[in-house]
Amino acid sequence: MIYLDYAATSYIKPDLVYDAVINAMKNIQGNPGRGGHSVSLEAGRSVYSTRVKIAEFFNLKNELGVVFTHNATMSLNMAIKGIVKAGDHVVFTSLAHNSVVRPVMTLAQKGVEYTCVYGDEKGQINPDDIEKAVKENTKLIISTHGSNLLGTIEPITAIGKAAKVKGITFLVDASQSAGVLDIDMEASHIDLLAAPGHKSMLGPKGTGILLVREGIKLNTILEGGTGSASEEVTQPEMMPDHLESGTLNTPGIIGLSAAIDYLNEKGVENIYRHEQELTQHFINQLENIDGIKVYGPSDAGRKLGVVSCNVKEMGSSDVAALLNRQYGIAMRPGLHCAPLAHKTIGTMQQGALRFSFGHATTVEEINTAVEALKEIVSERI
Ligand SMILES: Cc1ncc(COP(=O)(O)O)c(C=O)c1O
Repeated sequence: MIYLDYAATSYIKPDLVYDAVINAMKNIQGNPGRGGHSVSLEAGRSVYSTRVKIAEFFNLKNELGVVFTHNATMSLNMAIKGIVKAGDHVVFTSLAHNSVVRPVMTLAQKGVEYTCVYGDEKGQINPDDIEKAVKENTKLIISTHGSNLLGTIEPITAIGKAAKVKGITFLVDASQSAGVLDIDMEASHIDLLAAPGHKSMLGPKGTGILLVREGIKLNTILEGGTGSASEEVTQPEMMPDHLESGTLNTPGIIGLSAAIDYLNEKGVENIYRHEQELTQHFINQLENIDGIKVYGPSDAGRKLGVVSCNVKEMGSSDVAALLNRQYGIAMRPGLHCAPLAHKTIGTMQQGALRFSFGHATTVEEINTAVEALKEIVSERI
């Protein structure tokens, strides 16, 4: 089987991630922060060292701002609902995933205003348009870092600068970029960063992170046991306990820690270069096939390893079924939880065939996908 669905989740993880999870399941059995005995302390130390590693990885100044969640959706909900209240205004973009759009729409029913800034037909956002959308009561600007439909990389540093000048909190959805692009929260003026552990960070499913800059105070959407301040019936204010209720996914976090070791050793820039080369090769081939329409930037330097296309007027799910059944290629068709981005490129009905590449993808796999698409197109003439 050829796996070209890394934007959904990374299929092949580095061996040290599997080993770390199994070791944690067998040998690091305590509940972190839930006792003074040695097994609890050992689990707590593993979690804490992962916080430090993550803070360094994204250049967040305070490791206590690293909050463990279950996925990017949870991180985004916590960030958005934690900061915005009735009467506030939120700016987000047409590249936003439903894990941004839906929480904003839920808040809109409770009196929150919003503006969606549209990108061009390649999915590129102009930071000036974000600035123009800002109002007196704008509380939060949300930008996707890399589109999960078009792969387009957005100018988060320019947007962050504008947000900082205006004193508005800036949230970045780094779901597709974390682990492939170097993200520096200081340099890009990011206040809140949401990412899954299971995509290009190469960690296990059930892991996500929300990084909170010191001084940003989020209201909770979940309260409960934190193992701290147990005499209090109200949620502790100190971070990360304020935002981390309930037992943590310790094996997942330890697996994520190993994944970051791998990313640091390999070098994020080398992983990106690998994916960029594959992406450019794939786009070049596709653009030469009559009957295939490719969406998003043609220049791989402007995008992540995500390429969406369609075969003539064929439904994307039909093509994907053929790719899976006849060629053993796993990729994703349909609408990619990004309805506004689909509207921009006119694929609400047809959906799009999304091929996405990762650290373990090879040029041979890309070539097989190209040949398969050629055959499918030729059978349709
Ligand atoms: C841009 C973007 N944001 C958020 C998410 C949600 O991620 P998760 O499934 O980890 O909640 C995804 C998942 O595909 C995504 O691509």
